[in-house]
Amino acid sequence: MPRKSTPPASTSENPDFYYPSRDVVRKAHVKDWEKLRKKALDDPLAFWEERAKELDWYKPWTKVLEDSKAPFYEWFVGGKTNVILNALDRHMRDARKNKLALIWEGENGDQVTMSYYRLRQEVNKFANVLKSMGVRKGDRVTIYMGRIPELIIAMLATVKIGAVHSVVYGGFSTEALAERIEDARSRVLVTCDGAWLRGKTVNLKEIANEAVGRSGYVEHVITVQRTGQDVEMVTGRDYWYHDLMALPIASPKCETEQMDAEDPMFILYTSGTTGRPKGVLHTHGGYQVHISATLKYVFDMKDEDRWWCAADPGWITGHSYIVYGPLILGATSFMYEGGPDYPYPDRWWKMVEEYGITIMYTAPTAIRGLMRFGESWPERHDISSLRLLGTVGEPINPEAWRWYHRVIGRGECPIMDTWWQTETGGHMITPLPSAPLKPGSGTKPFPGVDMDVVRDDGSSCGPNEEGRLVIKNPWPGMLRTVYGDPDRYIEQYWSFFKEQGWYMTGDSAKKDEDGYFWIIGRLDDVIKVAGYRLGTAEVESALVSHPAVSEAAVIGVPDEVKGNVIHAFCILTAGAGKPGEDALKKHVRSEMGPIAVPAHIEFVDSLPKTRSGKIMRRVLRARAMGEDEGDLSTLAD
Ligand code: PRX
Repeated sequence: MPRKSTPPASTSENPDFYYPSRDVVRKAHVKDWEKLRKKALDDPLAFWEERAKELDWYKPWTKVLEDSKAPFYEWFVGGKTNVILNALDRHMRDARKNKLALIWEGENGDQVTMSYYRLRQEVNKFANVLKSMGVRKGDRVTIYMGRIPELIIAMLATVKIGAVHSVVYGGFSTEALAERIEDARSRVLVTCDGAWLRGKTVNLKEIANEAVGRSGYVEHVITVQRTGQDVEMVTGRDYWYHDLMALPIASPKCETEQMDAEDPMFILYTSGTTGRPKGVLHTHGGYQVHISATLKYVFDMKDEDRWWCAADPGWITGHSYIVYGPLILGATSFMYEGGPDYPYPDRWWKMVEEYGITIMYTAPTAIRGLMRFGESWPERHDISSLRLLGTVGEPINPEAWRWYHRVIGRGECPIMDTWWQTETGGHMITPLPSAPLKPGSGTKPFPGVDMDVVRDDGSSCGPNEEGRLVIKNPWPGMLRTVYGDPDRYIEQYWSFFKEQGWYMTGDSAKKDEDGYFWIIGRLDDVIKVAGYRLGTAEVESALVSHPAVSEAAVIGVPDEVKGNVIHAFCILTAGAGKPGEDALKKHVRSEMGPIAVPAHIEFVDSLPKTRSGKIMRRVLRARAMGEDEGDLSTLAD
């Protein structure tokens, strides 16, 4: 184990470790990572309570954690708050009022900057618009947009009035959107005409219209004009955002709804093992404590920073670390609309230089993608403003880690490899800037979080033994339930280690002799494609909704840039002609979205199944990879 916290990078005694410089440690919020971890783990509730006290509350809590109804845990019980109180309202009383909250750049070069004051005005106006459409506390509002400032305004306005947002990633398509609208029973949908992506426009409104037609709950659709393309507007149902915001009802005065700490704040759909996507539910109190504490400590956020989380607000990374976390901390957050390599592969680095970004957070797939273009692209720009880097979403291979560290971080910026999930709300395994790093490992759990790698019987795995990654104690940002399906919440996360009361992450991992965690991948039927989380069942149902496909099974196969790509096995419907591969891909794209499109499609006569009818993906994987199929004794046929 490294003894000193600040030796030079990669000493000869410890070639595996990358140490932060003395300067990084000296300036960091947390100077001794292990000391804080130990202290917090001795008394996690005291640690989280201290963090909660750094926020404003309308009324303080009477109990930090209520565990009598576990796994339906409650945090900061009796407390009254609203995430907007901390993200916007409290900044009105000091200099942050005039600080930039948001800097936005469109792919076509458009720019928007907004101070905290201005952002709050816009949010208040839209909150009043939503109220005028009958949206009340507890109602769900679905938001389906490109990466534009109005997306953030719509999220904040929804939460401000006590309603619950369900943001659907703009890369999803008709069926995925319809299903999510239906599950949330949203009466209001906020969307935009189109989005810019790699010089072209994506027709989001057309997809939204089709989805609204299929789901049958939506009464009002509010559309932001971004691209100016022709769209179909239905009288009595459709309104332009800019028209509504110009009406007298859109007053910039609006009271923030006082919520119980445990009141729902948002639903975010994510893929699970079986069937339909699950609506992961987060609440007002614990969520904001968790994400503000992690952002402050992990990314060492300071008032002078310019923060760029290059995710999409439609995923949990965007919710927690583009929108809510930075605003709660009063930071300046940058958001970019389009593709990273458009019009040239230096687009990102150009913006880092132009805006003086100091901390950057992205996914391994983006790093690998940009790495392919070579070092000359980042070298064209002065990106020395960067002081800290981050990654999330999938394991980062050491080669990409080293490139990111050396080429983007000048060999000086520590990389925070953060492991977490939609369900956890915020970071769970992550270094802090003062931690010695190993490329490819997220190091150890965040202070106050108790995690382990265990065997199926619950015993701890030995060093470097692969096992199940579990969370052993509750944490404030945890999901509270699966929306509308509490049984599924228990079944999915808490049944495997029921006796021990541990949360099962669904990941496999190893812990090395230094106690560092190494994530291997998913143990269930979830595939991570370019960091996006997809359920095999969703992709399969998109395939079989094509008339020529009667049955389908998909698996993930390794890919150098995307981590995994989808390989689909399809059985033809009796009597149907074989559809072209492109036609089938197009069909999946229009049902589910581009991220779900299989890279390979193979037609087969049968699928390997167990006697109970479960598809043996292991066998399919071996076939796709040209490997030995292993033990086939459980095969039905
Ligand atoms: O498999 C893990 C992987 O992403 C899963 C969670 O996906 P999602 O809910 O979409 O959230 C992604 C963004 C927080 C995990 O179960 N994962 C996430 N971060 C990492 C990771 N795998 C390895 N290293 C990471 N840093």
